[in-house]
Amino acid sequence: MSTTPRARLVVLISGSGSNLQAFIDASASGTLPAEIAAVISNNPGAKGLERATSAGIPALVLNHRDYTERTQFDRELADLVEQFQPDLVILAGFMRILSSAFVDRFAGRLLNIHPSLLPKYPGLNTHQRAIDAGDSSAGATVHFVSNELDGGPPILQASVPIVAGDSPDTLAARVLTQEHQIYPLAAEWFCRGRLQLENGVVLLDGAPLPQSGYRYSPPEEVNDVAK
Ligand code: GRF
Repeated sequence: MSTTPRARLVVLISGSGSNLQAFIDASASGTLPAEIAAVISNNPGAKGLERATSAGIPALVLNHRDYTERTQFDRELADLVEQFQPDLVILAGFMRILSSAFVDRFAGRLLNIHPSLLPKYPGLNTHQRAIDAGDSSAGATVHFVSNELDGGPPILQASVPIVAGDSPDTLAARVLTQEHQIYPLAAEWFCRGRLQLENGVVLLDGAPLPQSGYRYSPPEEVNDVAK
C-alpha cells in the first residue's frame, strides 16, 4: 500500500471532460495519490460536470458570461478554487485564457494540457494546423502554466503519427488517448513530490527536464495506426 498522503486537486473544465474522467479513474484506482476536491466549469452545459457528479465530486459553475471584466472573473475563480485548498490545479480543456490575476495565485501548482507538440501550434485548431503543415506526427504536451499562452515550461509530451486521410477529428481522437495517459501521470509525479518548478525550470527527481519535456513512449496500439 502506498504511504504517500493524498493530495487535493481542483479540476477546471469547459466541455466533455474526458481528461477529467482519466483523473477520476486514476484517483479511484489509486495510481494517482490524490482526491479531486472539486470540478469547476465556466460553461453550465459542460458534460464533464455530469462525470464529476456521477463520481460524487462537487461540481460547480462560474459562468464567465456573468462578468464584463476578465480580471474580475479570474479573481473570483481563483477565490473559489482556493476555498478547496488545492495542492494542484488542473486545467483540463478549460477554454478560457487566464490572466495573471489567476495564474500568479497558483504559480508552480497549475498544470495545463495542450493538444500539440509545443512549442509548435500554441492556441486553437492545432490538429488542422499540423495536417495542413504536412507534419508526420502530432501530439500533446502537459506543461506548467505561465502568463504566456501555452508557453509555460513543458513536463511531458506524447506523440502520435498523422496518417493519410486524417481529419482534425480522427487525429484529435488519437491524440486524446495519449492525453489520458500523460496528464494523470504528470500529476502523479507532482503529487508524489517528484516534480517541481524552480525558477522557471522543471525538475523531475531533482534533475532538469529537457526543454520540450519528458517524451512519453506511446503504447503499441498507437504505433499500429501507422502500419
Ligand atoms: C483536449 O484536447 C485538451 O488537450 C484541450 O481540450 C481538450 C479537452 O478535452 N485543452 P476533454 O474535455 O478533456 O475531453
